[in-house]
Amino acid sequence: MNFSLTSKAIETTKADCLVIGVPEKGKWADSATAVDAALGGLVKRLQGAGDITGKLASTGVFPLQDAPWARLLVVGTGKDAERTPAAFRKLVTAALATLKDGPSKSALLALADTPVSAADDLGSEPALLQVTGRLLEEQFYTFTDFKSDKPDARKLTKVAVACGDAGKASKAAFQLGLATGQGMNYARDLGNTPPNVCNPVWLAHQAERMAKDYDCIKTDVIDEKQMAKLGMNTILAVGKGSTEPPRLIVMEYRGGKAKDKPYVLVGKGITFDTGGISLKPGEAMDEMKYDMGGSASVFGTMKVLAETRPAINVVAVVAAAENMPDGGAARPGDIVTTLSGMTVEILNTDAEGRLVLCDALTYVKQFDPAAVVDMATLTGACIIALGHHASGLLSNNDELANELLAAGERTGDRAWRLPLWDDYQSQLDSNFADMANIGGRPAGTITAACFLSRFAKDYRWAHLDIAGTAWVSGKAKGATGRPVPLLVDYLMSHVRK
Ligand code: BES
Ligand code: MN
Ligand code: ZN
Repeated sequence: MNFSLTSKAIETTKADCLVIGVPEKGKWADSATAVDAALGGLVKRLQGAGDITGKLASTGVFPLQDAPWARLLVVGTGKDAERTPAAFRKLVTAALATLKDGPSKSALLALADTPVSAADDLGSEPALLQVTGRLLEEQFYTFTDFKSDKPDARKLTKVAVACGDAGKASKAAFQLGLATGQGMNYARDLGNTPPNVCNPVWLAHQAERMAKDYDCIKTDVIDEKQMAKLGMNTILAVGKGSTEPPRLIVMEYRGGKAKDKPYVLVGKGITFDTGGISLKPGEAMDEMKYDMGGSASVFGTMKVLAETRPAINVVAVVAAAENMPDGGAARPGDIVTTLSGMTVEILNTDAEGRLVLCDALTYVKQFDPAAVVDMATLTGACIIALGHHASGLLSNNDELANELLAAGERTGDRAWRLPLWDDYQSQLDSNFADMANIGGRPAGTITAACFLSRFAKDYRWAHLDIAGTAWVSGKAKGATGRPVPLLVDYLMSHVRK
């Protein structure tokens, strides 16, 4: 697919399909008015006849004759007062979904001058171009690596995005949007790859390939022997039940000054979670291949950084293991000494995410982080609490938490905060070790974060539980690429100006 930005006059720019927005009520975008005039008032006539309602995200396709375009796709932009950035994302998504499997080979998208009401600059043309870039990549994603009959290649190969001013700000915004979408799609590829391929060593190879592809990325892989030497016994305990050895993968992107403290991203990378000896029930167990979604979002975010080269230092750590129940597996009742020196009684081998993450959280102290954010498909309880719309956010620092919440709001990749009060900590008491790895049924997402918080005392830390947001189930089963947009937005707000 070829995506480009153009500031040429829309009325004379050829394409198989022209896409414009028409409101239900309120002021027309300049581009729509100009196109209507160029088509001799056709759009207004279609509106008058009821063929175009303007209702938010409704679409209609109209064949044209003697025009620079073979057809016109009109997407409803709704009412002026309700046209928020979220509404804009919705209408662009609807337009692209209609375009996707249609007959056009090329399209010209004239939506970036849609009037959007937003508190900050989210309604500006660069902001709308940025989100359009992201949605283009997101919408046209496919994953057919493992199909023998590739579905017919899509007809559409080129989308030009019209803008009033293709200056530096617009170009950079559009590029960042495309890069964010590509980062999401990379995360989706990793997630969708079957677990007999995507194992910890394969994930480490991905990181090594990133280092090969981009000079700005440095990769270091810690194998099981080095882990044993260092004392990473909890990640080892999780990996023990599998013939696939665990890996701790470290990627560094240093685009800032040497003295700038790095932002550290940590990802849960369980490439398959059977539950271990505390075996999961069989239903939908295939979806536990997505239990490396946290690490996929770390990979995706690093790719965005490598592509856009912002002035910031970021260290990424992926704790990769496969949770299997063979003869070597950890048992409920086992006590292990973590890298931090604290001991953990493993009461349930299915609470393995926190076990791989705790050693990673101890390991990252050496980077003297500005902040640490971990992403993990950590608890089923998070889906019960928040469903599939928001990621769970827990943090030991209000400022960091608020910044991440704001990044989620701005991108539509939202998170919602849950408390991390001391009151919950005692649920992790163990009779035999410093702590247990489970805290009972009540507040499962919070007690999981409480466990992690004990290893994150020395820095500003936040945890995103993405169990409900990293993938979708059902007919459209697939990884979502979340929370790459949130992470990219957060990191970009800390780029050295
Ligand atoms: N990876 C799962 C959490 C999960 C389950 C995410 C379903 C998405 C969908 C995690 O390792 C897990 O098994 N958590 C347990 C924790 C429990 C044993 C305390 C859970 O949520 O049941
Ligand atoms: Mn589990
Ligand atoms: Zn898991």
